[in-house]
Amino acid sequence: MPQGVQNEELKLQAEQIHKAFEQEFERFVRLTSTLTTGGVSLSEAEGLFVELDEFEKRVTGKKSELSALKKMVGRIAAEDRAAFGQLIQSIESNIRTKLSDTRQALEAFIEAARTERDRIDVTLPGTRPKEGHLHPLTLVRQKIENIFVSLGYIIEGDREIETDFYNFDALNIPAAHPARDPQDTFYTTDGLALRSQTSTVQIHAMERRGVPIRMIAPGRVFRRDTPDATHNPMFFQVEGLCVDRGITMAHLKGTVGEFLRQMYGPGTKTRFRPSYFPFTEPSAEFDFTCFKCDGIGCALCKGTGWIELGGCGMVHPNVLRTVNIDPEEFTGFAFGFGIDRMCAMMFGLDDIRLLFENDIRFLEQFR
Ligand code: DAH
Repeated sequence: MPQGVQNEELKLQAEQIHKAFEQEFERFVRLTSTLTTGGVSLSEAEGLFVELDEFEKRVTGKKSELSALKKMVGRIAAEDRAAFGQLIQSIESNIRTKLSDTRQALEAFIEAARTERDRIDVTLPGTRPKEGHLHPLTLVRQKIENIFVSLGYIIEGDREIETDFYNFDALNIPAAHPARDPQDTFYTTDGLALRSQTSTVQIHAMERRGVPIRMIAPGRVFRRDTPDATHNPMFFQVEGLCVDRGITMAHLKGTVGEFLRQMYGPGTKTRFRPSYFPFTEPSAEFDFTCFKCDGIGCALCKGTGWIELGGCGMVHPNVLRTVNIDPEEFTGFAFGFGIDRMCAMMFGLDDIRLLFENDIRFLEQFR
């Protein structure tokens, strides 16, 4: 090919490259021009930026047509070389300037839009974390515990799955004794059962610690009761036990009375009615003056002025013997009552099952 023709050819090529660039670049110019008028979203701009990057590499990179053409400068006849070189240079600088202007515009937009997106208004009120609180049963249990701890009692606890021995025999309730009936509970296949009363802890605690002992044991118990407003197959009791030399029924009455006064107010009176429990002799049930009407009579106490709370009595000698304590040397009293019932009365609940449904809207009312 004659030199002159080749020079013309290369010039043409250079102009074509320039034109192709302008054509493809038109899209970037158009979109970038709408940046300030909100024509492009942040994510669109981010996408465009990536495309621009690829485009730039393709047009100006080492493998671009423009680079290939630049390498041809040396082949151009000496007299035309300077002019051709200038042409290539001006095309290249035009391309680079346009690319870098657009890149800058996009960068500025993206940065501003990101800042706007991530902006926080420190003057806005914060969202308060939801504060948890104790379950109403826990509140009542803690109140009971605090009172007895102040009277010198320790808090005991033990297993909820028991053998017949701890749930019945050791408490002076032999097999076939009618007292087992109302305490019918859930048995497993291997001779174990869910405890039906916290009285089991009396035995465990005396085995563990010996006497003298003063303890209360709050905990879950289980019975085969059909659930209704006042019954639930799982509920909570508190057991109390005091064994020492010279303990009498007067100590029992004094302790229960003091507990109820601290619980319901200094004016609270207690009364004891004779009753029967296999593990105490004599046995009693204790009532206290209604905290709502102060003993006058209202709907809560069914007009009697009294609220029945639990059972109690002097620990039966057989119970002491079972744990190798000499009933001639040591005597004691025991008591037990339900926490759920107490809680329902204190918070005015008409159905104890509400306590176990875990409905936050209900529980939130009792803090
Ligand atoms: N364990 C009895 C019950 O579940 C309550 C009870 C009564 C406990 C008298 C005692 C007591 O310690 O002396 O019904």
